[in-house]
Amino acid sequence: MLKDERCRDHEIERAAELLRCGGVVAFPTETVYGLGASAFDPVATARIFEIKNRPRFDPLIVHLAQTDWIDRVAQNIPPAARSLAQRMWPGPLTLVLERRDEVPDIVTAGLPSVGVRLPDHELATRLIRAAGVPVCAPSANPFGYVSPTTAEHVRSQLGAKVDAILDGGPCRVGIESTIISFMGAQPTVLRHGGVPVEEVESVLGCVLTTAQPGDPVAAPGMLKRHYSPAVRVVLFDGEIPAPPDGCCGLLLMAKRPAPTGFAAVETLSHNGELGEVARHLFAALRRLDAADITTLYAELAPHVGLGVAINDRLRRAASV
Ligand code: TXA
Ligand code: MG
Repeated sequence: MLKDERCRDHEIERAAELLRCGGVVAFPTETVYGLGASAFDPVATARIFEIKNRPRFDPLIVHLAQTDWIDRVAQNIPPAARSLAQRMWPGPLTLVLERRDEVPDIVTAGLPSVGVRLPDHELATRLIRAAGVPVCAPSANPFGYVSPTTAEHVRSQLGAKVDAILDGGPCRVGIESTIISFMGAQPTVLRHGGVPVEEVESVLGCVLTTAQPGDPVAAPGMLKRHYSPAVRVVLFDGEIPAPPDGCCGLLLMAKRPAPTGFAAVETLSHNGELGEVARHLFAALRRLDAADITTLYAELAPHVGLGVAINDRLRRAASV
């Protein structure tokens, strides 16, 4: 075994021990970094809410190490949900299912349901398997801010408050999981994310509707303003607006000529490929937020596939 691998094993074992003993550990997933605690430990889970300054009405997603752990936290699972899990896990897909009583109220915000997913990231699944318990984890950012896609993003904002941070490099997907609820008469999209809804529809063989705020099954955490940098965000589609002053930034989906006068420009992909756009989106928003600008002009993505989730994040970032 190589020395690096031995160090990694040791680091994972130490982080797993922290989780078993009530610690809070930040870890990478394929989507964004999570801030984890044992899903069966309400005291450790309460610390997650404090560290993030997250309202208690907003439930956490429970992360598994393998598909069959689903029965440790959920029950009466519909066959359609099981087949989605079989086909799409590990991956950026969260299923909202009837919870088991063993899951503490603080994890589910008192709801009769629980969100579960199997992350597609070796460090995450090794950590959770070593801990031996499902791990509840929101994104590892202060509530309402842009999600972290590198360990450095977590360190800079929450480093002093967490017990450990596992560094797995930049996240491969870059936006959060797609959430599908099985709590209503029909499966419903609660959040667009890393798996395009078209792919879920083709497995389920039906067209899905997206929950609107106020719907009985809507995700309590889907607030109008979210994923938001501090800088004011103005969205555009098509022609790039000319900057009214020297304090403007520009966020482009693909490389193309821009008017002069922007103080900072970020281009998410050379050719606008949506996977690459998603992967780079949150890091670029953080860099622009740190730049000396007062307004950010952000281009919308084509509204298909991953573009739906990308535009959802941009719209919430621009909401006041
Ligand atoms: O990709 C992801 O999903 C990342 C990584 C770390 O796994 N996690 C993440 O967690 O984005 P968070 O807490 O930032 O967003 C979870 C969303 C919230 O909007 C919450 O309201 C919703 O999932 N949610 C969780 N459990 C739910 C439930 N039982 N019913 C409805 N919505 C739920
Ligand atoms: Mg979040």
